[in-house]
Amino acid sequence: MRPLRICLAASELAPFAKTGGLADVVAGLGRFLARAGHDVRVFVPFYKRIADSGVATVPLPGGEDVDVRFPTRSIRFSLRTLAEADAGTAPRPQICFVDCPELYGRDGLYTDDGDESLRFAMLCRAVLESCQRLGQAPDVLHCNDWHTALIPLYLKTTYHWDRLFASTRTLLSIHNIGYQGGFPESQLDTIGLGEQRAFLHHGDLRDGRFSFLKTGVLHANKLSTVSVTYAREIRTAEFGMGMEELLENRKDDLVGIVNGVDYGDWDPANDPLIPHHYTADAPAGKAKMKAALLARMDLPHDPRAPTFGVVSRLTSQKGFELFADSIPVFLQREDMRLCVLGSGESRHEEYFQWLRDTWPNKVGVYRGFHDELAHWIEAGSDLFLMPSRFEPCGLNQMYSLRYGTPPIVRRTGGLADTVEPWDPAKRTGTGFLFDEFSSQALAGTIDWALRNWRDQKGWKQLVDNGMRRDFSWDKQGLEYVALYRSLTGL
Ligand code: ADP
Ligand code: GLC
Repeated sequence: MRPLRICLAASELAPFAKTGGLADVVAGLGRFLARAGHDVRVFVPFYKRIADSGVATVPLPGGEDVDVRFPTRSIRFSLRTLAEADAGTAPRPQICFVDCPELYGRDGLYTDDGDESLRFAMLCRAVLESCQRLGQAPDVLHCNDWHTALIPLYLKTTYHWDRLFASTRTLLSIHNIGYQGGFPESQLDTIGLGEQRAFLHHGDLRDGRFSFLKTGVLHANKLSTVSVTYAREIRTAEFGMGMEELLENRKDDLVGIVNGVDYGDWDPANDPLIPHHYTADAPAGKAKMKAALLARMDLPHDPRAPTFGVVSRLTSQKGFELFADSIPVFLQREDMRLCVLGSGESRHEEYFQWLRDTWPNKVGVYRGFHDELAHWIEAGSDLFLMPSRFEPCGLNQMYSLRYGTPPIVRRTGGLADTVEPWDPAKRTGTGFLFDEFSSQALAGTIDWALRNWRDQKGWKQLVDNGMRRDFSWDKQGLEYVALYRSLTGL
């Protein structure tokens, strides 16, 4: 079988531009595919923060000064790629940064600006224009989330004439159906789809709107999402966020593939962002990481006091409203620590700040985004809290398993697929799960976890079980390759 030509298109790519797991997944999958011998290009906007970060990039030959024609005007972009020195020696994907300062030279990856739809329509067009310029179309164009979900429709319409794309197939991966890229239909003209209304979701148009994600779901050759359970859940009214019917109609083309973990970045054996290393066979460094974390968060250290970790976007998806009626009870009662790293909705940020102010010797909080601290919390905590309302896959629980930090999670989406309930009698399982989205259910599970914590012998087994689980891309990535091959027949 010949190697495949694959283009990954996304709005995030670790470590250059990241707000959540999408960045890690695109980077990890891209690296796996390149290692496996495929020809991989990854397209991502050249955001201001990448330009300012000092990462060395150079113009990508052939990708200079490309004009993209929209109905009212043209917008110019150029491709940049990593300079050799940064590219390393192992086979890696070619990173194609879409450099368009007019649209991406702003603070933040996402904006509330009036041209947000144009920013990502441009990304979709830039991917296709780049293929034309470079004279090479991929076998598979793998789109991710709403930001790149217009590619399949552009291929069928604006680029339909070009035989270059005759055998290109599209896959749209849904990482989070909570973000659909909905905009007023009046913006269709600006992004060059004014004449293509017949291809859009008619109900939305009647309501004066259109959605990037729905358009992708209607037109991509195949659909995937990031866990098996979520692939089922999004076909129901409870989780589908209005897209359940569309997805039910395409259920034969929809598969769930659990995300992989890039253990090159996330493994306590060699994580460059933590000072003490450890493995399942030699776990001693974990206790040192706990002491280091507590010192860093300005909290008193006691090895017997369980430390809970949280690393999260603070949005309603993540379920932190369940804390209000549960966590204070434990903080009052137990000699415990809670280390929180998060940013997002101010109600959550303020709540965690209140916990910190009320129990300054038990709670540490960092408001913002801090990659290194995320690794420290994974490594230095004893338990990881993830009470998500919904969770397409979730990476943090898989990271916490590898770092010897059993997760407490709600049984939903990828959390259900990756965490197995601890059974102290059989000594099997990797974490603690609850079903009902309620403070009582969460509190009951924390209580159960604490009772197990007191049996340190059992706990060691629980930690060991989790550390030995393998969610590497070497496993999960093969499922994507099989999907690409079934899509193309190659
Ligand atoms: P989601 O993509 O929904 O945010 P995931 O669990 O899939 O959830 O991935 C979250 C990723 O983002 C992880 O790599 C996590 O470490 C990282 N992350 C989330 N919040 C922060 C933060 N405040 N600082 C640093 N990293 C964060
Ligand atoms: C989304 C989801 C998360 C998933 C990540 C990567 O942001 O919220 O569950 O792990 O994408 O696929």
